[in-house]
Order: sequence, then C-alpha cells, then structure tokens
Amino acid sequence: MIVTTAQKPTPEQTAYAQAIAAELEGRFVPRKQDSLQLLGRKYEDPVLLVADDRGLRYYEDSKEPLYFHPSMAYVRVKRMRKGERDPLIALTGCLPGDSVIDCTAGLGSDSIVFSYGVGASGKVTALESERVLYTVVREGLRSYRTGHEDVNDALRRIGMRCIDHLSYLKQQADKSADIVYFDPMFRHPLHDSSALAPLRGLANGAALSEESVKQALRVARKCVVLKEHGDSGEFERLGFEKRHRNKIAYGVIIPS
Ligand SMILES: C[S@@+](CC[C@H](N)C(=O)[O-])C[C@H]1O[C@@H](n2cnc3c(N)ncnc32)[C@H](O)[C@@H]1O
Repeated sequence: MIVTTAQKPTPEQTAYAQAIAAELEGRFVPRKQDSLQLLGRKYEDPVLLVADDRGLRYYEDSKEPLYFHPSMAYVRVKRMRKGERDPLIALTGCLPGDSVIDCTAGLGSDSIVFSYGVGASGKVTALESERVLYTVVREGLRSYRTGHEDVNDALRRIGMRCIDHLSYLKQQADKSADIVYFDPMFRHPLHDSSALAPLRGLANGAALSEESVKQALRVARKCVVLKEHGDSGEFERLGFEKRHRNKIAYGVIIPS
C-alpha cells in the first residue's frame, strides 16, 4: 500500500502521512504534482491511502474510496438533539452514564449514536478487527468536525480498539458493561445499502460465533443486541429474540 499526501502538503501533513504509513506498514511516497492514478502506475501498487485535511481516504483499484463520514449517524443524532428517541437507543434501553461495547465498529455510525446517548458520563468502546478500517475510522472520529460541538465531543469520546471482539470480550470481567452490541456483515448483503459498499472488500465477513454471544452475555448487565437481515436465520441460530420485523431487524437477549 502507498501512503501519500495532498499536493503541496505542509511539513505537518507530510509527517502525519509518514506516521500513518509506518503504522499500517505502507510505503510513504511524496505526492509532488502527481495524480493518484499516476502514482499507482509509477509505484505499481493499486492500493493507495491519502492523508490530507479531509482525513484518510483509502483507494483500491477504481472502486469508490473508503473514508470516514458520520452520514446517517449525524442525521440520527440531530434528531436526538431535538428530543426524538433513536430506535437503537430505545431498543437497548441505553441511558446517560451507560457503558457500551460496540463489537463491530465498521464506519462507527452506531457507536456515534450510542456515544451521544450515553453522554459524557458514559463510555463507548468500539472494536474493529481490520487494521485499515480501524485506522481510517479512528482518525475520522478524532478529527471530523460536524457543525455541533456536542456531536464532535461524542465522536471524540469513543474509544476505538483494533481487536477481534471475541478476544476483547474474553478479557472483560463479568457484568462490566451495560450493553454489548453486534452488527456483523450480513450473511446476505442488502445491495441497496450503499453506505457500506466501500467497506465490503476490507471488512471481516465472518459470521458471529456462539462463543462471542456467550462471552457477551457474561459481560453485559442490561442486554446483548444483534442487528441482522430479518430473514437471515441468525437470530434463531444464536438465540436472539427478534424485535423488529423489517428488512433489517434487531434481536435481543437479556442476560440472566
Ligand atoms: C456491518 S459493519 C458495522 C457497521 C457499524 N455498525 C456502523 O454503524 O458503521 C461490521 C464491521 O464489523 C467488523 N467485524 C466483523 N467481525 C469482527 C470481529 N470478530 N471483531 C471485530 N470487528 C469485527 C467488520 O470488519 C466490519 O467493519
């Protein structure tokens, strides 16, 4: 993977791109006046990460780039700011001060909603097993600016970890979090879900394991929640009670 900057970077931007290249074991190359296509051809590498004022953008061949954007999460949080209850917050019974483990961070949208929901006295830990995704989203949460300071604060408070959720859950004490949340890649992807399209090639597509659910039930005080395609059969396989019967459904298990 090539890591580069925008054209005419400041010394700080160059140092930042070099640090990201070192972290991801990529090859830092100076951008000069080259287009991204030319850089790819010159260094015979179709995988490119650009670090600039807009954050990190990951390009692979001619696919849509992957970058952090709060997208639907921002819409959901703006509704919450007006006093509306987000369906995921309502379903999980999430309250200010709660601690949430989001076991499948992805682009961080659900983590942002949880982070706004639990507020400054709560805690959201977002787990992502895939290193590039983790780095792009971690940097986005650190630097992206929405038009609202309280939303920016919610982004900054999310603690991201690059780790497989089963390993993480095994390290946690019994009943040490309020909510444990899983949103794995659907067994049967919804092809109209364009928000997740750039993530598909990079994401961990493994099915949720029974062992992860067992560990989640040990760690959670309030509930363990799974988001999946309504017809996937995953709720039945893993013992979740299906709560919403739309195309996208949530399943809940209340720990004993
Ligand atoms: C459907 S996406 C999650 C989308 C996310 N809820 C959002 O709002 O943006 C699933 C993510 O979970 C990650 N993932 C899958 N299995 C994982 C595991 N065992 N541990 C940590 N992350 C995992 C995938 O790499 C992918 O990025």
